[in-house]
This record gives sequence, structure tokens and C-alpha cells, in this order.
Amino acid sequence: MQALIINCSPVKTGATALIVSVISACLKQKYETRAICIADYAFQFCRGCRSCHSTAQCVQHDDVDKIMAEMDDSDIIVAVSPSYWADVPGQFKAFIDRCTPWCNTHEPHASLRPGKRGYAVALRTGPSMRECERIIQTIQHFFGHLEIETCASLGL
Ligand SMILES: Cc1cc2nc3c(=O)[nH]c(=O)nc-3n(C[C@H](O)[C@H](O)[C@H](O)COP(=O)(O)O)c2cc1C
Repeated sequence: MQALIINCSPVKTGATALIVSVISACLKQKYETRAICIADYAFQFCRGCRSCHSTAQCVQHDDVDKIMAEMDDSDIIVAVSPSYWADVPGQFKAFIDRCTPWCNTHEPHASLRPGKRGYAVALRTGPSMRECERIIQTIQHFFGHLEIETCASLGL
């Protein structure tokens, strides 16, 4: 079984990266584990053209395809996101928007291999868990429309 841990922060060596390394160390005991950072991929914003609603493909071809290939190769996907203004960082949101070809609200849509399990981890500086919940909901909403089964979440 393969596990993918996504650092959803644009900071490759920050607090999110630290949490990613802790989770990686745990998962490595049981799974083939790979960690990636959203900052290592170059991709454009979604243009909102909705071409993908009829073609199941994006008109743009960039590193989104590489991230999706990583996700497709994985059985377990852990998204670790910091709070930036009480939400996911813009880079991660831009990636989510670009996943519209895989969104199950329209036909045809692209699909990941079935049977994937998803875990959402949110971290922030402030003390209230409510803000973490909001980020977890964003990740779970994303997982849901890609038909990745949400298994658990953690707010830090
Ligand atoms: C642009 C920006 C906005 C932030 N907004 C919030 C916020 O709204 N609430 C909060 O608790 N922390 C906020 N933080 C703090 C981060 O969530 C926290 O420092 C986190 O550990 C950053 O992880 P990173 O360095 O891996 O990106 C913000 C940080 C940045 C850079």
C-alpha cells in the first residue's frame, strides 16, 4: 500500500513540513510513503471555462497532471494544511480548483482509481479549533468530490 502526504503550504521547511515529517515517519512503518509539497509544482489558476464539464479534461497542461498522478498511485492520501487567513493557502486552493475535471458533480468527469482513503490535518497559530475545522471541511469537501473516502482528521 502506498501513502502520499501533501504539504499544502507554500513553505517547504515550516511547521507544516514538520508535521508532514512526523506523519511520514509513522506511516513509513506500515506503508510505502511519499511526501510532496505544493510549492514544488508549477500550475496555473483555473480559468473557470468549464470545458472540463463536457470533456473531463483541462485545457491547460502543467504540473497538476503530476500531482494527480501521485494521488492516483496512492491508496492513502494525507493533506496537511496550515491556516492562511482562516482558510487553506491560495496555492492549495488553486490546485483544488484545477481538480474540477475530476469533480463528480458533472458527467463526464475524470476519475482516480477507486478505494482511496483520505485524512485531513489542519494547523494554525491561534487557539480555536473552529478555524481548523473550516480547513478540514475544505479538504474533506475536496476528497468527497474526488470520491476519496474521508477517514479521519486532526486539528493542531
Ligand atoms: C499569510 C499567512 C496567513 C496566516 N493566517 C493565519 C490565520 O488566519 N490564523 C492562524 O491561526 N494562523 C495564521 N497563520 C499562521 C500559520 O497558520 C502558522 O504559522 C502555520 O504554522 C504556518 O505553517 P507553514 O509555515 O508551514 O506555512 C498565517 C500565516 C501566514 C503566512
